[in-house]
Amino acid sequence: MIRIAPSLLACDFAEMGAAVRAVEAAGADALHLDVMDGVFVPNISFGLPVIEALRSHTRLPFDVHLMIVDPERYIERFAKVGADWITVHYEACSDPAAVLRTIRENGCLAGLSIKPNTAPEEIFPLLPLCDMILVMTVEPGFGGQSLIPECLGKISVLRAELARIGHTAAIEVDGGVNGKTVDAVREAGAEILVAGSSVFGAADMAAAIQALRGNI
Ligand code: DX5
Ligand code: ZN
Repeated sequence: MIRIAPSLLACDFAEMGAAVRAVEAAGADALHLDVMDGVFVPNISFGLPVIEALRSHTRLPFDVHLMIVDPERYIERFAKVGADWITVHYEACSDPAAVLRTIRENGCLAGLSIKPNTAPEEIFPLLPLCDMILVMTVEPGFGGQSLIPECLGKISVLRAELARIGHTAAIEVDGGVNGKTVDAVREAGAEILVAGSSVFGAADMAAAIQALRGNI
């Protein structure tokens, strides 16, 4: 089943609470929260206090995407402020296995993300520690970019390896998912679709979410 996780990066930051409530009412399955540190990516978004403030505004699971260096420093605190899924970047961790274990020890689902230029084979040894794999289809850092179609081929490679080792993990795609690209994303086998500008920029968010799901 396809799940849609709108990215709050594309909302009006002066009206975040209202945006969260609106996207829940529009039928989202989770809320994707992009945390950027200005080091791992050339942009700064929001962090712990903002996520904590939003927690009481929705029952949606919080899908926290950490685009920060050495994320192990902050796992416990993101779990405490209400993260349900915590995704870290393979490229940002000195010991990704330890970070993934720490996420699970803190009661969250563990996600591992790879940037467009990282080969899926690099993370094969880490798959048993992952509840979710996040395949980036743009260079992380900014919303509103165009999906890089070549990245979608990584999904079947990851699926085949998961099947070979007998492990189940959801595959999420993030970056440039919209009405034009979503068929290819679904056909490639993604199950959780992150969508920022295509949801928050839509006149009718509920219709946009249904369309991404493939129901329209
Ligand atoms: C980019 C973020 C994405 C971004 C997606 O670094 O990880 O989650 O918000 O935005 P769109 O859907 O507009 O490409
Ligand atoms: Zn993201």
